[in-house]
Amino acid sequence: MTVTLPSGETIPALGMGTWMMAESASRRAAEIAALRAGLDLGLTLIDTAEMYGSGAAESLVGEAVRGRRDEVFLVSKVLPSNASTAGTVRACEASLRRLGTDRLDLYLLHWRGSVPLARTVDAFERLREAGKIRHWGVSNFDVADMRELPGFCQTNQILYNLSRRGPEHDLLPWHASAGMPIMAYSPVEQGRLLDSPALAEVARRHDATPAQVALAWVLRLPHVNAIPKAGTVEHVEENAAALSLRLSSEDLAELDRAFPPPSGPEPLAML
Ligand SMILES: NC(=O)c1ccc[n+]([C@@H]2O[C@H](COP(=O)([O-])OP(=O)(O)OC[C@H]3O[C@@H](n4cnc5c(N)ncnc54)[C@H](OP(=O)(O)O)[C@@H]3O)[C@@H](O)[C@H]2O)c1
Repeated sequence: MTVTLPSGETIPALGMGTWMMAESASRRAAEIAALRAGLDLGLTLIDTAEMYGSGAAESLVGEAVRGRRDEVFLVSKVLPSNASTAGTVRACEASLRRLGTDRLDLYLLHWRGSVPLARTVDAFERLREAGKIRHWGVSNFDVADMRELPGFCQTNQILYNLSRRGPEHDLLPWHASAGMPIMAYSPVEQGRLLDSPALAEVARRHDATPAQVALAWVLRLPHVNAIPKAGTVEHVEENAAALSLRLSSEDLAELDRAFPPPSGPEPLAML
């Protein structure tokens, strides 16, 4: 399963997140093994950020993809406090060093701060011309922010899962009509969704797990990809298998009853 960017390039519908990785030496080997297992299973989009572990997550990703860089669609993010024109270029170069690579496939503004968007976009364009990033995008942007954005943005990474359906009211329709996918972060709500009785019931019908149902639900839309974080090979394998799970209209109706869609506009939430 793939999602198509405005550039025409396709990226995997299911990738891997890395927030909270590299925070414990005792988990490091398992986290690297999890990311490598994901690459073997085709989850070749890896999402990271200079913020995660203050750069430590990027270093861990660099180790995980060593020797396999060309297989990966690598995403990182600049903090809004670094997002001036010169600051973005510096932040990107530091991310590249930690990741042990000469280019990012996608570079995102982590959330909107006080720097005028045009300055950050100017830096993104300079980085693109220099070959240091291939594409750029944003994160945590609501419709009004998207409308203000100049230039050729490729995606908007947002909080979207069964318990966070607010974007269905206006942001997802805006993206669908703009032909720009969204990247759903925290697709299992950091694990909090997984004890839902409705998810358990749908999972039982498919001989699947609640995590697989939560991911299949996010991936039901053609312009949405998902980046669950999994710190073990077992969880990565389970998540990868969600790609072959198709939810029926009965499943979707049951999930709608447990997690109702928005009845009006809601401000975009973020974690
Ligand atoms: N742009 C932004 O502002 C922003 C904000 C938040 C997140 N993100 C990105 O999105 C990624 C995903 O979001 P997230 O990490 O917040 O939350 P998430 O992916 O919804 O949940 C991660 C949690 O779920 C557990 N998990 C994963 N697969 C599982 C499975 N099959 N069964 C049971 N538990 C499972 C993980 O446990 P284990 O680690 O034990 O496997 C971890 O505790 C982040 O890592 C980050 O890259 C971006």
